Amino acid sequence: HKKVAILVSGSGSNMVSLVESMVGDHPARPCLVLANSADAGGLAKAAAMGIATASVDHRPFKDDRAAFEAELIKPIIDSGADIVCLAGFMRVLTADFVGQFEGRMLNIHPSLLPKYKGLHTHARALEAGDSEHGCTVHEVTPLLDDGPILGQARVPVQTGDTPDDLAARVLVQEHKLYPAVLRRFAAGDKTPVLLP
Ligand code: GAR
Repeated sequence: HKKVAILVSGSGSNMVSLVESMVGDHPARPCLVLANSADAGGLAKAAAMGIATASVDHRPFKDDRAAFEAELIKPIIDSGADIVCLAGFMRVLTADFVGQFEGRMLNIHPSLLPKYKGLHTHARALEAGDSEHGCTVHEVTPLLDDGPILGQARVPVQTGDTPDDLAARVLVQEHKLYPAVLRRFAAGDKTPVLLP
């Protein structure tokens, strides 16, 4: 089995969907859930599922990303991870760090990339009057929310939607898309997954 380290910052619902998918004939297994804060909700969920966890708090490092990443990489290396999945990991990573995992780091982003890189994607889709929105899984490269697209899932935008309504509708698709992409990717197949 390929070993997968999953990096989270928040509640970790995407992490749970990935972990739950890695069973049976799946070519990968989770080896670590790592957060940038000891109180990230995802850590407790991972521990409850019997996955090894670790955290490296970014706050003491202030703006020294390189020093933060020098610590962050240690548990990943120790875990023997073959693949790194960013799942709601909200720290920007340097080119140096990304380069350590070239071609084997994935990210899920809540928009139909290349639209709406960065934050507040749901509000921006609403402001733009888009009729559809969605999420993207891509290979991580040094440019933020860039890199080869490995899958996308679309949802309709409905009249009267708030950003939270849209986020919830997209999140349901994230939980389908990310496991589907990881399964393919772990088997060496980079053909994009298109949902629904
Ligand atoms: C997800 O919607 C994910 O796409 C987004 O954060 C949420 C995390 O939820 N990621 C980003 O915005 C990355 N810039 P989760 O912790 O429940 O998986």
